Amino acid sequence: MPAIVRIVDLVKNYYLGSQTVHVLKGLNLAFDEGDFVALMGPSGSGKSTLLNVLGCLDRLTSGQYYLGDVNVSEMSDDQLSEVRSTYLGFIFQSYNLLPQYTVVENVELPLLYQGVKLDAATKARCVALAEMVGLGDRLDHRPLQLSGGQQQRVAIARSLVNDPHLILGDEPTGNLDSKTSIEIMEMLRELNRAGKTIIMVTHENDIAAWARRVVRLRDGRVESDVRNDTRTTAELGR
Ligand SMILES: Nc1ncnc2c1ncn2[C@@H]1O[C@H](COP(=O)(O)OP(=O)(O)O)[C@@H](O)[C@H]1O
Ligand SMILES: [Mg+2]
Repeated sequence: MPAIVRIVDLVKNYYLGSQTVHVLKGLNLAFDEGDFVALMGPSGSGKSTLLNVLGCLDRLTSGQYYLGDVNVSEMSDDQLSEVRSTYLGFIFQSYNLLPQYTVVENVELPLLYQGVKLDAATKARCVALAEMVGLGDRLDHRPLQLSGGQQQRVAIARSLVNDPHLILGDEPTGNLDSKTSIEIMEMLRELNRAGKTIIMVTHENDIAAWARRVVRLRDGRVESDVRNDTRTTAELGR
């Protein structure tokens, strides 16, 4: 499998007045197409910063970032936003839905931002996505009329609207109870089995256990990088 994401000596600093905050201190990682990766690590270790750089929401300070064969670190802001809307899907802890819009309208939102004309076929596709995440009977509900798990399903449907290659999640189950978290993780696993590459931040071991590979950050560096399947084998062998 070719690497879908490759970062080389990735450094990210923030500059606060005269102070430099060194957040990511030279990361080297490659993620294969079709993989399901959990990014773990203590609070403040740089997980969200890394995800934001991978999601082209923030720029790196130095190093290289390749998405497929494309060197993202050299792109203009316009090109980055094009990559975001055509290649990436995002799921956030707080769902980030617009409260005044219905389920289907929230799913359509990334298309509106891109200026895509919402013709009958496009609308039908958004309805199909809402149905796929189990909200066929909630199409005209608004976020506040939905449970947290249902809102996150809307966010998952929305993340799929551009048929992204790569789905990025920042603590996608962070606001959900454990039963609902399992439902969301089952959905992500299905998407992964259907071929989507997923990179997900979590600080919970039982959520990370759904991933195929677990990368732990500590203080802006990679502390460990383990395949869940090999770890299970090793544990069985003990
Ligand atoms: N915009 C910012 N400006 C300055 N410092 C930041 C900014 N964003 C994050 N940081 C700092 O970077 C470090 C890593 O943050 P973050 O990536 O959010 O960690 P995590 O998601 O692992 O909890 C923290 O010390 C945080 O204070
Ligand atoms: Mg974070």
